[in-house]
Amino acid sequence: MVNGLSEKDSSKIRIVKIKDGTVIDHISAGHALEVLGIIGLTGKEGNVLTIAMNISSSRIERKDIVKVEDRILEDEEVARIALVAPNATINVIEDYKVVKKTRVQLPSTITDVVRCPNTRCVTNKEREPIHAKYQVVSQKPIRLKCLYCWNHIEEEDIVAQLVD
Ligand code: CTP
Ligand code: ZN
Repeated sequence: MVNGLSEKDSSKIRIVKIKDGTVIDHISAGHALEVLGIIGLTGKEGNVLTIAMNISSSRIERKDIVKVEDRILEDEEVARIALVAPNATINVIEDYKVVKKTRVQLPSTITDVVRCPNTRCVTNKEREPIHAKYQVVSQKPIRLKCLYCWNHIEEEDIVAQLVD
């Protein structure tokens, strides 16, 4: 018991509910900052951000949560989140209620997000570079294949690029 609450209840109220915005829940523990990186949130945009890391959860042992107030994510941003948090759920909150809940899902192809590690790839040309496009060839661990040079990109390289 903590302050008259069971341990389960006290972990639930550790972070406050939001009125409007997006809750990215069930992020694999320790990966919240990568999620922020992948959707390009730095904290300087002005939106109220709540980040909780390594909190206890029933569905997965420990999890991270990111709450972004007054912001709805684009479909493409949701797809990118799947690269670093494959079990995440995206909850759209309106007037304190969850009005939409979706599970992130890796698309079969991804555009941009990461650079092809092959320096001679056409997507890395300094003049008239073309947008990088990758096929998702493996989900666990994630592996992408560049559709221009067929180079493979491993999960750890993807994550390293997303947080630098
Ligand atoms: N949430 C929030 N603000 C609200 C409503 C919900 O921050 N006004 C958060 C909750 O704290 C939770 C997530 O949004 O982290 C999803 O809320 P809800 O669907 O009510 O919780 P669960 O049923 O536990 O979700 P799930 O089944 O996806 O685990
Ligand atoms: Zn390439």
